[in-house]
Amino acid sequence: MVSKVTVRVPINIALIKYWGKKNEKLIIPCNDSVSLAIDDLYAETTVYFTTDGQDSVSINGKSTDLTAKPRFHNVFNEYRRTVNQPNIKIHVESRTNFTVAAGLASSAAGFAAIAFALGQLGNLSQDQTVRLARLGSGSACRSVLKGFVHWHAGTKVDTDEESTCDVIPSPEFWKTVRAVVFEQKNSEKDVPSTDGMQKTIETSSLFGHRVDKVVPQHVEDLKKAVAASDFEALGRVIIQESNQLHAVCLDTFPPILYLNDRSRALINFICGYNNKIGRLAAAYTFDAGPNCCVFIQEKDVKPFLQAFADKFEFDHALLPQSIGKLTTSNTEKQDLP
Ligand code: DP6
Repeated sequence: MVSKVTVRVPINIALIKYWGKKNEKLIIPCNDSVSLAIDDLYAETTVYFTTDGQDSVSINGKSTDLTAKPRFHNVFNEYRRTVNQPNIKIHVESRTNFTVAAGLASSAAGFAAIAFALGQLGNLSQDQTVRLARLGSGSACRSVLKGFVHWHAGTKVDTDEESTCDVIPSPEFWKTVRAVVFEQKNSEKDVPSTDGMQKTIETSSLFGHRVDKVVPQHVEDLKKAVAASDFEALGRVIIQESNQLHAVCLDTFPPILYLNDRSRALINFICGYNNKIGRLAAAYTFDAGPNCCVFIQEKDVKPFLQAFADKFEFDHALLPQSIGKLTTSNTEKQDLP
């Protein structure tokens, strides 16, 4: 039996945002979400088994206190149950090439990598792997597939069988889309997404409108834009989704403010840039943190970065860190010793 594997799994960035769970234990979201993966930013993770000792997890060389992180136990126990091996101990060594906990979907890549590795070791189906990733962190399940990944909320609250992922068919055109990530240094977020989204459900009156009306419309608009290779229509959905996530965060009590002055400077710059050139060339999105991800077509990357350099002074805190290719690969198995 193979008992050790190393995998590399990219972060995914939500174009349509997941925010809020209708079942916290099973991590079933209140609304559908859609993401793209960015190949250049990833978690590289080794998973192996022993028959004695305790489960262990180390992230970027630091050992994790598993008593404080029940999600790891949920994933490990679910794996042991699925493969009917109650006594194996699971060991994880993970490294990321980006800042953890800064609104760059680090938990997504981390748990997706663990699930993908366990899936390889236990010969799990794609749906089983997606489910394991989801039990670790909701957004992680979208990193198991590639392309435009649609995570469904499903209609049920007490069972997660409908809360699966599939891929929205996309024309070749989308392979020319790039992601430019502006990562701010020292930008670990104050309010973890898990807590933030729960507070939003409890206190925001805008949230219900978002779930019932706005997200279903955005999913439809996104699918149409993708099928028609219409970047501007997609960009509009991306920007409006990001804005609405941060609007419901502001509407939460006490308010949650993930964006900072630099984030807002970027928003102004990007809107001004699109306005100046007379079309929507750059679409920004922010998750639960101040880091900005800009989706842009390959042909526009150079002029966009030139305009950025003309406007902003050289500043380490606000530099494009990575210009990632999208959708070319996702979960990649490195070796099977
Ligand atoms: C803003 O997946 O981190 O990035 O399921 O509680 O672990 P949990 O939350 P998490 O939330 C991510 C929220 C988001 C939007 C998104 O990725 O869709």
